[in-house]
Amino acid sequence: MAIFIDTGNINDIKKYLDFGILRGVTTNPTILLKSGIKGGMEGVKKACIDIAKLIHPLPLSVELTTNDADKMIAQAIEFSRWADNVNIKVTIHGPNGELDNLRIIHELETTHNIRVNVTAMMSAQQCFLAALAGATYVSLFCGRINNMGYNSIDEVRKLRRLLDLHHLKAKIICASTREVLNVVEWLDAGGDIVTVVPNLLEGMIVHPYSKETVKMFLDDAEKLQKQL
Ligand code: G3P
Repeated sequence: MAIFIDTGNINDIKKYLDFGILRGVTTNPTILLKSGIKGGMEGVKKACIDIAKLIHPLPLSVELTTNDADKMIAQAIEFSRWADNVNIKVTIHGPNGELDNLRIIHELETTHNIRVNVTAMMSAQQCFLAALAGATYVSLFCGRINNMGYNSIDEVRKLRRLLDLHHLKAKIICASTREVLNVVEWLDAGGDIVTVVPNLLEGMIVHPYSKETVKMFLDDAEKLQKQL
């Protein structure tokens, strides 16, 4: 598992997929909008199908665009038919705390055999309930937790213990990355996956001292070749 990429930009996905370091892709409506996806829902469908095909069999998370309880199941079924590696992101509740979402998450997982990624969660307790409802993935917005002045690492540790203790299948996705350091610290705390924005991946790889060391090797290799 380990690293998913949090973007709708197919060029970024392809670039890091070719490095062999990605295990999946996550999106949401905000990310797709920022990635410049055009053409309404047909454009979204095309972009998602293209990404799903590119990364197959790795998973792609696509979020519902409605919180109307009557439409959510039908939309989840529709999106999940775009490709067999698409899983459906459903928020833990509606914008005003509507509670139908957990029922829908449970129904999608148990009746429709659709893998659900429960999203927009800010605490271990929300994730625990989503896991009990049958979610395949629980997305904890660690960066937003930190922004609110709480310690996301405590929440990841607590959640890890709860899922293990109760033998729940849900994988923990640590989301809302802000710093390069987040990736390793959240995985170390017990997250199964960190979903990373593309610009942080480069920051994980490149180190000024590595640059200097590589330069030394190359300079000396040149001298070595001239050595008689
Ligand atoms: O994966 C969830 C993520 O995209 C939300 O991130 O930066 O809006 O808190 P952010």
